[in-house]
Amino acid sequence: HQAKLTLDPAFKVAPVRRRTFGTFVEHLGRCVYTGIYEPGHPTADEDGFRRDVLELTRELGVSTVRYPGGNFVSGYRWEDGVGPVESRPRRLDLAWHSTETNEVGVDEFVRWCRKAGVEPMMALNLGTRGLESALDLLEYCNHPSGTALSDQRVANGSKEPHGIRMWCLGNEMDGPWQTGHKTAREYGRLAAETARAMRMVDPSLELVACGSSGSGMPTFGAWEATVLEEAYDVVDYISCHAYYEEKNGDLGSFLACSTNMEYFISSVAATADHVGARLKSRKRIDISFDEWNVWYMSRSRDRQPDWPVAPPLLEDHYHLADAVAFGGLLITLLRNSDRVTAASLAQLVNVIAPIMTEPGGRVWRQTTFHPFAQASRLAAGDVLRVEASSPAYETADYGEVPLLHAVATHSDEGTTVFAVNRSADRPLSLEIDTRALGGVRVVEATTLTDTDVYARNTADDPDRIAPRPNADVEHDPARVLLPPVSWNVIRLA
Ligand code: AHR
Repeated sequence: HQAKLTLDPAFKVAPVRRRTFGTFVEHLGRCVYTGIYEPGHPTADEDGFRRDVLELTRELGVSTVRYPGGNFVSGYRWEDGVGPVESRPRRLDLAWHSTETNEVGVDEFVRWCRKAGVEPMMALNLGTRGLESALDLLEYCNHPSGTALSDQRVANGSKEPHGIRMWCLGNEMDGPWQTGHKTAREYGRLAAETARAMRMVDPSLELVACGSSGSGMPTFGAWEATVLEEAYDVVDYISCHAYYEEKNGDLGSFLACSTNMEYFISSVAATADHVGARLKSRKRIDISFDEWNVWYMSRSRDRQPDWPVAPPLLEDHYHLADAVAFGGLLITLLRNSDRVTAASLAQLVNVIAPIMTEPGGRVWRQTTFHPFAQASRLAAGDVLRVEASSPAYETADYGEVPLLHAVATHSDEGTTVFAVNRSADRPLSLEIDTRALGGVRVVEATTLTDTDVYARNTADDPDRIAPRPNADVEHDPARVLLPPVSWNVIRLA
């Protein structure tokens, strides 16, 4: 198979957005407890945070972290998680049928963010609660001092305000599974009123309205339109959530799942623009793709019999094909950087995550860690359209899909191509037209692949799947051989 792409610095899409490389920490399973936080672990620091997880979070190149949910947030009382730890209540977590001990709350989370060098992104409970608790949390977090709530934060040990800029107005309120699920009109009104009041405190906040929990939701499209009719003027983003998995052994469709993400993004952008046109607004609503990943949801067992504390939930172990599908999703997010200006990989540790831990023990990188870490480290400057031509293959879910899925970024330091070969059995010879870049050469090519597409990393064999140098490179013209089912990074300078 032969494919070709053309690089030209004039074909700019948008700047690379650092917030594309966000992730998500929910009070769910072992994400917080025995994930980021485990006092007594050999690597725990003075605050009980696992240093091994902090290190890998930095290596992953995370920009923002959404917190504390997810479905969890829709029943959460943030006040339970502040003040002396010994007097914090234990509560039922209806979303995950677990017991929440509240040992970690907003102050601990922000402290962890500072150590990890990431920006916190806070989600509000618009399920069981609403406007007043949102305003209280905002005042607690962001007001310097001199009011009851801000002084409470200071007394709890956080003298400096948390300075949280991005706030999610609820979570997946279109989903019948959500505690306090609402119709689009009910939610749109609540989101608008909450946003308006929050802007009275600080007009510069960045606010995200809930879009659809998936493009297959029965209310998809109508939900976004109604919510934005109510909230257009007072929010900055509408969210998208999407999870993909290989179903019935259909690897071809699975490797093409970014086709659905592409459709999702363009439909939501069109819907938002339609509402904007009707409102005669000059403002544009961006997309926060604040939950995305591969998730074997159909295999999930999310109902616990006896309300355990931090049970192992949603602990997917990713194989090579998962990492390649995942890389394709990342490429799609980058290709849409003009509209998707924030995103959060769901989630960070243990729960459908790139980082896995053993309680009290080892930490390792899942296969999906690598595309994320490489893209976060190497995507720089502007995103370029790559004008690709590629042979296509037939998929059951999406019809004809190109074998090559690619994007490039360009800065003064050089140009990097991120490319996936979706072919299950054939290498793809990729020619790169670099004429517009003038005299550049391939200086590094790596590939993430394996003879067994279902090979995984484990605590005992943590580097089975990792990027390796790709020696199949030719110059003049630049040509790189992409193995079947592979994620590839090609640097030119
Ligand atoms: O990320 C896991 C769950 O997926 C989140 O709690 C929820 O928002 C989504 O359905």
